[in-house]
Amino acid sequence: MPGNRFGDVRWLRSVDSTNRYLLDEARAGAPEGVVAVADHQEAGRGRLGRRWEAPPGANLLCSILLRPDLPVGSRHLLSTVVALAAADACQAVAGVTPVFKWPNDLLAVDGRKLAGVLAEADATGQPGLPAPVVVGIGVNVAWPGSDADLPAELVGRATSLCQEADRLVEREPLLAHLLAALEPRVAALGRAAGRSAQADELRRRCATVGARVRVQLATGSFDGTATGVTDEGHLVVATPSGTRTVVAGDVVHLRATEERDPLSGPSGRLASE
Ligand code: BTN
Repeated sequence: MPGNRFGDVRWLRSVDSTNRYLLDEARAGAPEGVVAVADHQEAGRGRLGRRWEAPPGANLLCSILLRPDLPVGSRHLLSTVVALAAADACQAVAGVTPVFKWPNDLLAVDGRKLAGVLAEADATGQPGLPAPVVVGIGVNVAWPGSDADLPAELVGRATSLCQEADRLVEREPLLAHLLAALEPRVAALGRAAGRSAQADELRRRCATVGARVRVQLATGSFDGTATGVTDEGHLVVATPSGTRTVVAGDVVHLRATEERDPLSGPSGRLASE
């Protein structure tokens, strides 16, 4: 693998969460670059406290330990480069070109979700090592095979690479391509121009920019029109009370009916929305 920054890949049969596993490894002093992959997660974590579900062996469930030397305000870009590398891998291995939904979801062209990213930091840090950030990504590879596999609240909201490519797609080459594509993207984050280039790629591929959105924060939600992505990867939203910059949260792309009826938004129970 070029540069071999991500040479320590630990493929686990079953674990509660690959993010939890790597955060514990980081607290014990593991270096940047350790990768944890699981056939099955018993308690996979999604954003905003949701669960991330997938049948054993079906999807790519993987976390990457980074110890970035980055301005704190640019940390969002760590998730961005993992999502961009995953999109590179989807293209190379499955011939599928995802679009982005802020913060870092990968969607099929029809808007169904293909992958989600969850970054978790350990604020305590370890002596002599930059503080760790674990970036986890779940890519729907073989599940769902069709809408019939999904619980009612996810029908029409999630898809997989096998569905989109209409052929068998395997996790191992997808992971290899993702890690190879991630290497230069992580290296680019060490320079201001490189950070700006990664944010620019997200901005150009991001279906959220220009969309009516509902922004979901840990503290509540608000509606507006997404107008851009900053060089730090944050979302700029125009609202009737002024422009807001969203650093962390989730968005729903609103359709006219959802604007009239807020109850028609997606369920928060499962993550693959
Ligand atoms: C989202 O809500 O869209 C983010 C989902 C992130 C899921 C991945 S699967 C591998 C890693 N381990 C976890 O527990 N979560 C992430």
